Amino acid sequence: MKLTSATLVFILLTTLNFAQVEYGPFVGGVTETSAVFVLKTFGVQEAEIEYSFTQDFKYSKKTLIQSTDSVFFYTKIYQSNLVPNKKYYYRAIVDGTPDWKIHSFKTFPKEKRTNFSFGFGACQQSGYSQWQPTIFPVMAKDSLRLFLQLGDWTYPDTTERRWNYRFNERKDLLAKAFDSRYSYDYPFGSLILSKTPIAYTYDDHDFAANNPDGTDKAKANTIEIYKKLFPHYPLANPDNGIWQKFQFGDVEFFVLDLRSQRNINDTVSVRRGKFSPPKGHSILAGFEITGQNQRDWLAESLKNSTAKWKVIVSSVIFNQRYIEVFDNDSLKNKFRWITNDAVDKWAGFPEDLQFVTRTIKENDIQNVIFVTGDSHSSYIDDGTNSIFPEISSANLDVRNSKLDQRMSNEGLKIWNKGSYAGDGYAYGRVRFFYEEKDFAILEIVDDKGEIVVSHKIYAK
Ligand SMILES: [Fe+2]
Repeated sequence: MKLTSATLVFILLTTLNFAQVEYGPFVGGVTETSAVFVLKTFGVQEAEIEYSFTQDFKYSKKTLIQSTDSVFFYTKIYQSNLVPNKKYYYRAIVDGTPDWKIHSFKTFPKEKRTNFSFGFGACQQSGYSQWQPTIFPVMAKDSLRLFLQLGDWTYPDTTERRWNYRFNERKDLLAKAFDSRYSYDYPFGSLILSKTPIAYTYDDHDFAANNPDGTDKAKANTIEIYKKLFPHYPLANPDNGIWQKFQFGDVEFFVLDLRSQRNINDTVSVRRGKFSPPKGHSILAGFEITGQNQRDWLAESLKNSTAKWKVIVSSVIFNQRYIEVFDNDSLKNKFRWITNDAVDKWAGFPEDLQFVTRTIKENDIQNVIFVTGDSHSSYIDDGTNSIFPEISSANLDVRNSKLDQRMSNEGLKIWNKGSYAGDGYAYGRVRFFYEEKDFAILEIVDDKGEIVVSHKIYAK
């Protein structure tokens, strides 16, 4: 008899008497009292989550039992009635057998003035990534209450090259990308997801391709599989995109979807070498859709927010001065791609950039921080160049693009608090402190655990 690898896995699992969990369980969509668990089994099976305050599961509770779906073998299990600010251990039980993997997370606090830190980053698991990433063991030693993945979480458009870069036309390839995100073969799953709640928005390579937009023919597939296989927060307009918000203590997060609603990037300007985008050119709401569009949602959400801090989570850089590459001939000559890159960021969509700025300023909305990704490097600006304080970090395991050094060398400096210049890797961290005077610290941490750039902001 010829044994296939699937048969071998099956035999191994039945002899070991472990539950048949292929990936997960991991947790997202966490609030003060609820969480969403995600897991994948090897076939259609009955799954539940057992959770407990102690690792021995002596006094444990269980979620509802749910079948994994018949196509992808995934399920998401929602649990409410959790105790705020409590550490929970959890494991999957499949067809009655508990899995060997025990993971943990902490619910969010009820008390608003709770000091905490979250981490974020982007760009991991590309074909050019480190084989053995150095950043995650360092990050695992941190005490992050939440991790925000800002996109390019795997690069299925490059790894699925034989599908002619059109991976999102096939739902099985979209699902396969989630498999590699959750896999224990890569230490993000075993070291970070195993003990940290996650929130995630896609950027270009995990949405469709390099620098895509809302005209992408298969975008509905990307959104559908995200909704099926990722434990997100409630989506504001689930038929059209993945923008969402949530709160931790006195910090509200507004997670944007900057691919599905954007108009096609302004390549006409790039060809002419002079920036003049068409009227109405939008990164937030470029299409007529049913229900509320993302631009109105963001404005309304910011105005209605009662949180002290407002964190706008954006897959691409907000810093408006990036557009000045159009006026810098030596930069344009040296780096032929740079104008194409600039029109892919907020700088390429000045109407929306100004709309967001006006909304915040005219409504006297205080303590806004932009957390951004995408450029394969890391930097901070206090708002001098970026209008609002912005921390950007996007080289979790891809090589540092040193974009700031390249631009500064040609006289264009747009990050006044500094950038990561090393040859290693980095993640972003924001810490909140509630003291006599409340403040936040924005930090770039490298893969030696050193804080390489930092900036302190006092709350107004
Ligand atoms: Fe990337």
